[in-house]
Order: sequence, then C-alpha cells, then structure tokens
Amino acid sequence: MKNIICNGFLNSKDLLGLEYLQKEELQLILNLVNDFKNFFLVSNTKSSILSGKTLITLFYEPSTRTRISFELAAKKLSAEVLNITVNTSSVVKGESLIDTGKTLEAMKADFIVIRHYFSGAPNILARTLKTSIINAGDGFHEHPTQGLLDLYTIYESKKTFCNLKVLLVGDILHSRVAKSNIWALTKMGAQVAVVGPSTLIPASIQELGVKVYYDFDKALVDTDVINILRIQLERQQENFFPSVHEYVKLYQLTKKRLLKAKSDVLVMHPGPINRGIEISSEVADSTNTVINKQVTNGIAVRMAVLYLLNKRKL
Ligand code: CP
Repeated sequence: MKNIICNGFLNSKDLLGLEYLQKEELQLILNLVNDFKNFFLVSNTKSSILSGKTLITLFYEPSTRTRISFELAAKKLSAEVLNITVNTSSVVKGESLIDTGKTLEAMKADFIVIRHYFSGAPNILARTLKTSIINAGDGFHEHPTQGLLDLYTIYESKKTFCNLKVLLVGDILHSRVAKSNIWALTKMGAQVAVVGPSTLIPASIQELGVKVYYDFDKALVDTDVINILRIQLERQQENFFPSVHEYVKLYQLTKKRLLKAKSDVLVMHPGPINRGIEISSEVADSTNTVINKQVTNGIAVRMAVLYLLNKRKL
C-alpha cells in the first residue's frame, strides 16, 4: 500500500463534499479504492500509513455504517481511534461546536470525522481548525464518503459511467446522499434522474443536470442503476405525502416494478433500509441488490480518503 503514487490530491486538508472535486480526482479515488479493497479483504496485517495519527469521530446524529467503517478503515491503517458519544459529552452542557472542535484539536486530533444535523457544520470546523475535517453527513447538504462508495459500487459492477442511466428514488429533498451522488455521477458522465413525490423533489434540482420524473414506472424504463433513498421521517416537520400507504403504492420498489427495468439493473440503498416502505423485503434480498457490497466498499473508500488526506499533511 505504501507504493501508491499520488501527485497531490483533494486540494484541501478536508473532505467536505463532492461538489468541490474534479472528475480526475474522482477517478483517482476510484482507482485507489480498488487497491484498498484488495488490501482490506485479503491482508491479515495492518498498513502503517496512519501510524502515530489520531482520528476522532464526532457524531451528533446516529450512525452504524459510517462511524464503524471509518473506525475499521483508520484502524486497518494503524491510526488511534476515539469515538465521542455526543449525548454523554460536554455538548449536553451547552459547549458549542467550535469549542468542541478546538478541544479535540488541543488533544492533537489529526482527523475529526463529523456528522451533524446542521448543513455546513463541517465547513465551520474546517475553517476554524488546522485538523483535517471529514464530513460524515451534514443536514440536507452532502455525505461525500457515501457518494464515493456509491460511485465505486456502480463502477465496480458496470465498469463505465458513459451513457449509464442512474435513477435516485424518493426523498431527494432531505437526502444528503442524493446531493453527493448527483455531484459525483454527473461529473463522471452518467445520466442522472430522480423520481418521487413533487413535495420531495427540490425545485432547483434540474439545474444540477438531473432529469425529473414523478411516475416511478416510467422512470424505470432503460435504467441501469436504481438508488433507493430512505424516507427520512425524522427530518419531516410536515406531511410531504398523504400517507405511508400511499407512498408505498406509488414509490416502493417491488419485484413487479423491478421487471420494468433492465434485467441486470443494479439496486442500491445507502441504508438503513425501511423494509416494506421504500423497498420490499423481496427486492432488498434479491440478486440485483448490492446493499451489503456498498457497506464493504465503504471501508475501502474511507481508507482511500484517509490515505489521501494524510498524504497532503506530509
Ligand atoms: N448510509 C449511512 O450513512 O448509514 P449510517 O447512518 O448507518 O451511517
């Protein structure tokens, strides 16, 4: 792993979003992820790439996949990893985000991986601290490592983005995963479309080069990749659709609906899935579905990101 050549990458000490990455940088990450995935799956040993470095996860929202895979990735590269449980930290005594960040910097954290309900929280820390900040999902804004692992999972299966039709389904409005997918996939040359209830599709989404559908059955025709998004009931202060029953009827990916897409269509979901709401159990467990592969790829993606950010510090 030490022999990977990288001529200066992410033009920043931080990874805040995929909006700021160039196509060439995304391609370089995809190539690196391949190497890190082989290393992760095959090697019983650790790499010393992050030996002597400390990574702290600071999650203001719950997580299973992102937090654990950052921890696994960092440990595989020999970093020390510490996790802050926000609801038992001094945040509950009223400590501000910036003061919390400064405290972790004073403890010589090399990387802070932050998830926050406020869009832009990682950017605030990145501007304030010398520590590398990695956005693990902020509000409705971006979830860049999820975007990268989705990109890699598609590339691993389809080998190209050229003329590839990718459909994002459901709650686009509240989804930071959708935003990171759109930034990355459009830069790589894929044809991106979204489908969902009009109340869950942002009015300006077409400006990002995305086609908009409201009829799921029509949108599925000729689609190569379907990325189903979780209905984020916890972010919805008002009713965006009449009832869950109605949503299921119009937008759940069922076995019957899946037949309208290509036979080799890739079915993805960032997780956690709401079985029986946005996706049927039958489809979630079908051979078209790569949800668990996405999770494994997430570790390799985070290894590649940590490697690249660390390289900029050397
Ligand atoms: N996809 C994703 O971000 O999952 P977690 O919330 O479990 O991290």
